Parts: sequence; structure tokens; C-alpha cells
Amino acid sequence: MATMESLIVTVNRIQRACTVLGDHGGDTNLPTLWEALPSVVVVGGQSSGKSSVLESIVGRDFLPRGSGIVTRRPLVLQLHKTERGLQEYGEFLHLPKKKFTDFSMVRKEIQDETDRMTGKSKQISPVPIHLSIYSPNVVNLTLIDLPGLTKVAVGIPPAFLLGQPESIVQDIEIMVRSYVEKPNCIILAITPANQDIATSDAMKLSREVDPTGERTFGVLTKLDLMDKGTNAIDVLEGRAYPLQHPWVGIVNRSQADIKKNVDMIASRRKEREFFASSPDYGHLASKMGSEYLAKVLSKHLESVIRARLPGITSLINKSIEELEAELSHLGRSVAVDAGAQLYTILELCRAFDRIFKEHLDGGRPGGDR
Ligand code: GDP
Ligand code: NA
Ligand code: MG
Repeated sequence: MATMESLIVTVNRIQRACTVLGDHGGDTNLPTLWEALPSVVVVGGQSSGKSSVLESIVGRDFLPRGSGIVTRRPLVLQLHKTERGLQEYGEFLHLPKKKFTDFSMVRKEIQDETDRMTGKSKQISPVPIHLSIYSPNVVNLTLIDLPGLTKVAVGIPPAFLLGQPESIVQDIEIMVRSYVEKPNCIILAITPANQDIATSDAMKLSREVDPTGERTFGVLTKLDLMDKGTNAIDVLEGRAYPLQHPWVGIVNRSQADIKKNVDMIASRRKEREFFASSPDYGHLASKMGSEYLAKVLSKHLESVIRARLPGITSLINKSIEELEAELSHLGRSVAVDAGAQLYTILELCRAFDRIFKEHLDGGRPGGDR
């Protein structure tokens, strides 16, 4: 449905614009508006495959990797589906108008921008990096990559040699919690299949903050690395660790594949073949893999936004009033940048309101498009 899609796109844009504005929203309700909009947060232990899952969903190689705590700032990744045939590119909020068509440069910029905030000391920072990817091959989705949960700050070199504070393990947990506690957060809980699922960091945390499992998507990575003669059927069929949404099994690139530069297209093909030819998982093949996961998430996000439309719409209408008041007040002050940003948000809110009304018209019985 075209209108629903444009609503999601507009919601994404408002989210982005609110972030640019930061603390300059005056007396408006914009922070509440931001929080009313759902997003998908990726959580899991270190090396559970979080970054690999994200890259698979995007279909591109662009995230820093290595041993130790690689992701040290939240990465807010907004995927924007563009028309077929258009070139893919990435754009950072902190570098507006610079289009990255070389995705290895995206990786470098994430690393550099992380270091700019945290220093070379490898500390963590809760200040997010915002990256948008425009591509015909993605679904409209906002994903947030967070540092991996760990029990000890393992890595080579070890944390203390890097000058990381002893509290880094707790600092990460506090940061991850601050995201997953929000009722609008959809949790992508990543667990590697070759480890004991009962001790999965992702499952432990998600059970705590979402005991009914209604906003948790369980993702089982590394199915190819399970011991011979064992399988994860009990989990994937929802018996062992039942959640409201079905579990999705994933096979990402191995470290050896990455070394050999196996590209994303080849690795998605390999993943499809793994499930299709597997005696254990063959019957589940159409509901496994990263492409399927991306579709499920996008659909879910759409249904959440649909369910929350009345609330979001009334917040947006309130924001329109507040923004108009704020702007007329700003007319007499010097905060030009903030004023421009507020104006952008106002325009987006108006656009949302317009599309929403069209959506209502289109949503009448018989008029459902
Ligand atoms: P993160 O720390 O959670 O972001 O984990 P990464 O995505 O960086 O993955 C950690 C390591 O596990 C990398 O060497 C990946 O190649 C490897 N890996 C991740 N998922 C899989 C998988 O499904 N199968 C195999 N064989 N290796 C994987
Ligand atoms: Na890692
Ligand atoms: Mg990672």
C-alpha cells in the first residue's frame, strides 16, 4: 500500500530531523514524538553476529569489525528504499550532502567518527552515529546497532591495556537497557546457535524487559557452526524458547569467508542453499535467512506504526501547533539553524498529517489500496 509506505518514510524523516535538532526543540514535545516512533534495536553478546546480520539485511559490507568491543557508539541506521536502477549510497548526519558510494569508506567514517567522540582510548559513548542508506535493494527500516553485551571486557589487547574503564561492561549494559526498555523498541535478539541458548545475553535481557515476548524477534545465527548431529529445530519451531514472533535462523559469512572477500550476493546465495538443502531445516526454508528477516521486520514495523497511528497523529498535530508557536517566537531571536530545523520538522509533520488523511480516505471499505 503506497500511502502506508509514505507514512513510514515520513516517520523516518521526522525521527531524523528531531535528532538533528537535539536539545534545541524549545518547549515542544519533540522528544516525546521521537520516542513514540518505533525502531528496531539489535542486541546480543560480543561476536554473536549482530553486525553480520545488519550487513546481511542491508546487503552490503560497511560495518567495522574485529575482536574486542568494535561497536562503541550506537549506530542508527535508516534504510530508504529508492527506485530500481538508482545508485546505492550512504549519507551521515554529521556530514550532510556527502554521498558515500564506496561502502569501505562508510566503514572508515564510522570508525573515525567513533574515535572522534571517544578518543583513541576505546571508550564507549552513548551519542549515536546516524547513517542513512539509500538503495533499491533495501526495505524501509530503522535499525540501531549497539555495543555487544559482555560479561568481561574480552579482547586483544585486553581492556585495561587499551585504557578502557573497568566499568565498561556495566556501561554497555546500561546503554543497551536504555534502548530496549522503551515500550516502542522492537528487539532483535541475536543468539549464536553454537552456544548454550539458556545463557544467551540477548535472551536474558529481552525476557527481562519484554517478558511476554511481544516485541522480541529471536534470531539464531551460526547454524552452520553447530556440532555435527545436533540441530536447533526445537528453538526454530518455537518449542524450546517460545516468543510471540517466530524465530528466524541465519547463516552469515564466516571469518574465513570474510578473509576470502566472499561478497554479500554470494553469501546470501550460500545462506539460501544452506536452508534449502538442509535435512533438518529444509521444511522451514521459506521462513529462514536474512532476506526473510528483513521483510518480516519491515512488515512488523509497518503494523506497529499502523496500530499507533492515532497516538502518533495526535502527537504530530500537537507538535504542529507547538512548532508554529516556537517559530513565531524564534522570529525574534537569533537561533537561525534551530529555526530552520524546526521549520523542516513542521513541514514533515504537515506532510504526515496530509498523507495520514489520504490514508484514511484510502482505508475506507472498498477503498483499501
Ligand atoms: P558482533 O560482534 O555481534 O557484531 O559479531 P560479528 O557480526 O562481527 O561476527 C563475529 C564473528 O562471527 C565474525 O568473524 C563473523 O564472520 C562470524 N559469524 C557471524 N555469524 C556467523 C554465522 O552465521 N556463521 C559463521 N560461520 N560465522 C559467523
Ligand atoms: Na564484535
Ligand atoms: Mg558488531
